[in-house]
Amino acid sequence: MKKEPNPDHVFYRNLRKFFPTSDRGEGVYIYDTERKKYIDGSGGAAVVGIGHGVKEITEAMVRQANRISFSHGSHFTSQSAIDLASKLVQLSPKGLNRVYFLSGGSEAVETAVKLARQYQVERGKPQKYKVISRWTSYHGNTLGALALSGHTGRRRHYLPLIQHTPHIVPAYCYRCPFGLEPEKCDLECALDLEKTLLYEGPDSVSAFIAEPIVGATAGALVPKDGYFEKIREICDRYDLLFIADEVMTGIGRTGKNFGLDHWKVVPDMIVAAKGLSSGYTPLFAVVVKEEIFQTIKEGSGAFVHGHTYNQNPLSCAIGCAVIDYLIKHDLVSRSAKMGEHFLRSLQSLNRHEIVGDVRGKGLFAGIEFVKDRKTKEPFDPKLKLNGLIANRAFEKELITYPGGGGADGIKGDHLLLAPPFIITEEQIDKMVSILDETIVEISKEIHQK
Ligand SMILES: Cc1ncc(COP(=O)(O)O)c(C=O)c1O
Repeated sequence: MKKEPNPDHVFYRNLRKFFPTSDRGEGVYIYDTERKKYIDGSGGAAVVGIGHGVKEITEAMVRQANRISFSHGSHFTSQSAIDLASKLVQLSPKGLNRVYFLSGGSEAVETAVKLARQYQVERGKPQKYKVISRWTSYHGNTLGALALSGHTGRRRHYLPLIQHTPHIVPAYCYRCPFGLEPEKCDLECALDLEKTLLYEGPDSVSAFIAEPIVGATAGALVPKDGYFEKIREICDRYDLLFIADEVMTGIGRTGKNFGLDHWKVVPDMIVAAKGLSSGYTPLFAVVVKEEIFQTIKEGSGAFVHGHTYNQNPLSCAIGCAVIDYLIKHDLVSRSAKMGEHFLRSLQSLNRHEIVGDVRGKGLFAGIEFVKDRKTKEPFDPKLKLNGLIANRAFEKELITYPGGGGADGIKGDHLLLAPPFIITEEQIDKMVSILDETIVEISKEIHQK
């Protein structure tokens, strides 16, 4: 029976939906107050890496809170911020060794964009200000980050409020924007950056931003090998910074420290990551190349930016405990290893007529649904297929992260899956069996309509 929307004073994301009350978390499970036990198959929104309810983290939280929870970044540093920056630098590619801490992903993306701009001004290139991004991408919901995001559905109400920025085509092999097969292409999607740069005028472009593996807007789009090498080469040739938005892919999610590590490409800045605090506190970071830091240090001497919760001592202590736990239990390798089993198991869902593509890396996977497997025609968005599937899976106590608009900004349905790295093979098999059952039921129901 459909429940009425929650009657309390909270302004929820969906005003017509009933949200159960979460009560506690343990490992891969979230329990609600009705004693339902959900597998957190998407780690919320690709947030939870080390699992729920880890005692070491709550102990670190209390230890830090007993000393000091807050001191403002304009007055103090803290030992936890110093330690976390050093831990993060050790996980990052060589050369990226300065860390700016924040409390949200969109805030971190905009920080990277502003930093790129100030760097260009301070190195004597004040004409460089544009940031190029890609369609079928997500960089956040604040107006600056939304301008870069390539998702028509999320942007359209706000278009009059956002600045127009150039977007290139996505690296979307299943729906190649050039109609090519991956075996036969020459990375035309990467070359689109060069084309767009030339149209825009390379002298006006400050940076290019991309998710190494696209998350929310298409469901784990993995580019062809060579793509990011080509992107790096173009950024170098035309003198722009390459910002890797690793908000979802960073800190082990794809089986490496960072998503770009799969291709051994080093960006100029990394925006990271939900997994940095694994959901225990709002905490993000921008990890920056030394040269960018030094240019500003030797120039004006200060980044004209700042937020109330920059380098918050409590959040940074939690981040330290999460990274220590990740390393102690070798969870990045576990994400890679369990990821192989995960993707193999998910491939079995290909037997369903409505499953068009299953893809991913590590414990970061996507299932794309189509009306017609041959033509790859998406479902009518009015059907809200991704929501139907996610809601049914939720009823069966499996949490997933649904999305739409991957095919053309409006059409397209997918599920993003990103369980905690501690998941076992048995729990993965349970996830896949719930998905299988859900897809059977929903396929039948939509065909009866
Ligand atoms: C790649 C990417 N960048 C930025 C963001 C924005 O992060 P936040 O929701 O914390 O603002 C997200 C959120 O899902 C994301 O996936």
